Amino acid sequence: MGPVEPTLAASPATAPRTGRGRDRNDRCANAYATPVPRPAAMPSSAPTPDRRFAAASSSCPRDSPVRSSAFATVSSFDRLPLLRELKALAIERTRTGPGSRVLDVGCGFGLETLRLARRVQPGAAVTGVDLSADFVAEGRRRVAAEGVQAALLRADAQHLPFADASFDVARIERVLIYLDDPWAALREMVRVIRPGGTVAIIAPDFDTNTVNVPDTALARAVLAHESDTAVVHGLLVRDLRGHLLDLGVRDVEIASRMVVFDPDLAAQYFTGIGRSAGAAGVIDEEATARWVATIAELRRTDRLFAAIGYYLFTGRVG
Ligand SMILES: C[S@@+](CC[C@H](N)C(=O)[O-])C[C@H]1O[C@@H](n2cnc3c(N)ncnc32)[C@H](O)[C@@H]1O
Repeated sequence: MGPVEPTLAASPATAPRTGRGRDRNDRCANAYATPVPRPAAMPSSAPTPDRRFAAASSSCPRDSPVRSSAFATVSSFDRLPLLRELKALAIERTRTGPGSRVLDVGCGFGLETLRLARRVQPGAAVTGVDLSADFVAEGRRRVAAEGVQAALLRADAQHLPFADASFDVARIERVLIYLDDPWAALREMVRVIRPGGTVAIIAPDFDTNTVNVPDTALARAVLAHESDTAVVHGLLVRDLRGHLLDLGVRDVEIASRMVVFDPDLAAQYFTGIGRSAGAAGVIDEEATARWVATIAELRRTDRLFAAIGYYLFTGRVG
């Protein structure tokens, strides 16, 4: 397959650089890295973008492949070893240990919440909040099955239902990028942390998305479209340190990992974002087909390479 210049229906260079969230009208569109086809038959009342992850799990029919895909995608990312390194570093830098009162904001169905709960026992408990009723229900099921001490409840990160200074540690992972007002969520987290407590944020930078499709012009077009449209604030890590300082967070430390995708997740995700670029008219039909075929061939021959940069910000409140 020789490199052929893509036909660009719209120059990525002219597209807005702030992601606004793809498919605001698609209730089942799962924002980051859920490359499912956009089902035309899904209801089209517009959720706000921050509700898309929640919508992916709670507004689709119970047997919907989109719905199970939301669970599978969260699990796939959770397993990535280099992301695990940032999770471990977050625990270390926030000094999360036995006795800590920990809040996990946007906890999904509690994968890391449960690990933290095991870590802080005995003597304390972990609380997880998420907007998705289905994720919270599944998280509670897992808490009960494992017999750990953790409270999971449905709440909006931008309006946390807790008194000031209720926690020693608050963390938020892969959530801020989806919110209408990520800075409100950050303000809320700082509010509910006691003075001297710690905060941890893990988030990607969408402009670091990388895949070894040899036609670099085509790859740049697809990746720029993804960065511009997949989530609401795909580049927010760049402003995070300033916002933390403005909120009175001290000793801000930053770590990063270029998180390498596992091959199946990479194939699924990058196929999906090529199709999204095609559906949006950013690349034409021929380029879309070539993109999909290239990813499939790279996967088939075990040559697919893909990665995205993730950051961990930690700091002390007050
Ligand atoms: C990519 S998942 C990350 C889940 C989990 N933090 C993890 O790292 O596995 C994003 C999560 O954010 C949740 N979410 C989206 N908007 C939210 C909001 N406004 N308040 C609370 N949670 C929200 C979604 O329901 C979803 O569980």
